[in-house]
Amino acid sequence: MKGNNKAAIKSNIATSDFSQKASRHDLNHDDSIPLNSFFKDTFEDETKLLEIEGKVCSYGDTVHYAKNPKFFTKSLGSYLYDSKEKPYLDLQMWHSVANLGYANKRVNDAVKDQIDKLPQVPSQFLHYEKVKLAQAIAESVEGRFGLKGRVHFNVGGAQAIEDALKLVRRNTGKQHMFAFEGGYHGRTIGASAITSSYRYREPFGEFADRADFIPYPYSFRCPIGSTDENACEDYYVNFFERKFEHEYAGVWNPKTNKCEFGAFFLEPVQGTGGYIVPPKNYFKRIEKICREHGILIVVDEIHMGFYRTGKLWSIEHFGIKPDIIVFGKALTNGLNPLSGFWAREELITPEIFGPGSTHSTYSSNSIGTAAGLEVMKIFSEKDYSKIVLEKGDYFLKLLKRLQLKYPEIGHVGGLGLALRVELCELDGFTPNRKLAEDIFRFGLDDQIKIDGKEVGLILALGGYYKNVLTLAPSLEITYKEMDLAHDILDILITKAKTKPI
Ligand SMILES: Cc1ncc(COP(=O)(O)O)c(C=O)c1O
Repeated sequence: MKGNNKAAIKSNIATSDFSQKASRHDLNHDDSIPLNSFFKDTFEDETKLLEIEGKVCSYGDTVHYAKNPKFFTKSLGSYLYDSKEKPYLDLQMWHSVANLGYANKRVNDAVKDQIDKLPQVPSQFLHYEKVKLAQAIAESVEGRFGLKGRVHFNVGGAQAIEDALKLVRRNTGKQHMFAFEGGYHGRTIGASAITSSYRYREPFGEFADRADFIPYPYSFRCPIGSTDENACEDYYVNFFERKFEHEYAGVWNPKTNKCEFGAFFLEPVQGTGGYIVPPKNYFKRIEKICREHGILIVVDEIHMGFYRTGKLWSIEHFGIKPDIIVFGKALTNGLNPLSGFWAREELITPEIFGPGSTHSTYSSNSIGTAAGLEVMKIFSEKDYSKIVLEKGDYFLKLLKRLQLKYPEIGHVGGLGLALRVELCELDGFTPNRKLAEDIFRFGLDDQIKIDGKEVGLILALGGYYKNVLTLAPSLEITYKEMDLAHDILDILITKAKTKPI
């Protein structure tokens, strides 16, 4: 028995040795075959690719808001192109990221140069483009608002919002913030807490530091039933003012004059909320209340910054001084993720916000800073304020022409090249989400022909009722392209009215 046992053990060892070797060999062997064929795949069959996507990609991003997500294979100027070379005129430019047009040669070349020169540098060291870009941003703020400050970089918009939240907490010791109904600041945990939509928070448990959401001045839907700008401004300012009338409004202690809230996070023109422009003096009056109660003002320029509204910083239209400005998106024209914030010197001295206060490995990456520096250079060379305001004026006139033709267009408006078309029922007021969605889908999927050539239209939907076309065309859009946009919209609205999906 014993002898047999020994023999069995020996043979087991031999077998397992052999099987280990064999399995190692098999592993290499098995890996190489599928990998080779995997990388030989030409990716031309979009139906097959979509099938794979359905199995291997998370549905947690925004792709599957669409029933039939689209593939694009080329981007240039104001257009995206599909694999059949069909052009789609883009009126949203990646939600105001590619402000200088897709494949902008100047920004692309800056990135190519950087790839040849300093493609990577660990973020614990310095490089020229980081320092110069911070200087360009700091000087842009000093020149416009007369304020000295510093810049801190990160990678995405929401991360920069998180950093701004940390800076507010560091300076005020407070974790509660004011923000706006309809405001959007991103989808990380901290940014979700100050983003009004409960839809983004509901599946993810308790948000103890959820902001107090103040109604944003939306004159078209002002609850007093008037669209008079002054009356609406008064209504909305009073709403915030009332919070400080007595202690029972729940935000302020009159005995200590202390407020429970550290900062007011605001978008000067609401982005995702539907490109709503506030009445002229609204923010000045809000600023006064904030200053009286020690509440910092954090301006989120992630969507509307970089000349989208005809000013480098959209808050310039409203005559107030920010404590913190958060930026992202268009800074690199979409080439490499880079975001950040600027803060007033008193809030961000090295003593207050010392080394390691916040950090991300890719922050101030050299390719992003090279792209950002070129973008700032381009903005300094031409009068983008004039260009954008003139183009915005022209585009708005075309939209008003459509409004005259279609009673379903309840409101058109905007600032610079951040424009809105609000779709309603025939009464011109009741929100009509279905009509907006049909126009959106026809733009992507229908066979629209202009002068015998097929062309698509890329739109974005926003607003509290998702019934607003939020238009953010390239700042380099031509007048001919704006005319084309008008003509396509005209066809799409007629079609959506008469042949809804
Ligand atoms: C105003 C505003 N803030 C913050 C964000 C979040 O930026 P990101 O998507 O880069 O995280 C967005 C994105 O759309 C935005 O529009």
